Amino acid sequence: MSRPRYIAFEGAEGCGKSTQAAKYAESIGAVLTRETGGTDIGSRLREILHDTANDHLTPRAEALIAAADRAQHIAEVVRPALDAGKTIVSDRSVFSTLAYQGYGRQQDIDEVRKLNEWATDGLWPEVVVFIDTPDEVIAERMSRRKLDRFEAAGDAFHERVIDGFRTMAAADADRWITVAAVGSISDVAEQIRDALAARGSAS
Ligand code: TMP
Repeated sequence: MSRPRYIAFEGAEGCGKSTQAAKYAESIGAVLTRETGGTDIGSRLREILHDTANDHLTPRAEALIAAADRAQHIAEVVRPALDAGKTIVSDRSVFSTLAYQGYGRQQDIDEVRKLNEWATDGLWPEVVVFIDTPDEVIAERMSRRKLDRFEAAGDAFHERVIDGFRTMAAADADRWITVAAVGSISDVAEQIRDALAARGSAS
């Protein structure tokens, strides 16, 4: 098994994945990056996606903006780092587009996949850590935040997104690791490190 060097963290808003991605990247000396907003251009695209004033943004336009962010990020950050022999830890990835724009916005999954195959020039994360956090923990965290356009999209949307993540994780068990986010931040971090080490990743 070759050592995976492109690792993505996925999950719902407020699931704790950013904290865990940062901890893991630091522990192995990897490049920490994120989608959306991992480049200057991507930060501007992220603003469009998150702005609650853009309530008329169509699902196709949303998917294309997310894919544009990704195309820039892969070309500017991910591929050069991999080419330089570094490991990438990405807070979200192409699988967020499948979950949110595909399952969540109910766009055809195969079409969204093809669009992103092109956007990424075929470069997909080798391992995905899916942080599956209890719904009530997420609801409690959300109740303390000023919600952006995605967070304000309603319960049915978020249920479809989480079901999408779970479906993808179950269908592609070689790539996905599901971590039930119960316990302290360091308990969850330890579970993640152990699971990634078992897949041959650095620890
Ligand atoms: P985050 O700061 O929690 O990562 O939030 C990013 C938001 O953008 C989150 O609501 C998910 C959403 N998103 C998409 O809808 N599609 C995508 O491709 C990505 C990367 C994020």
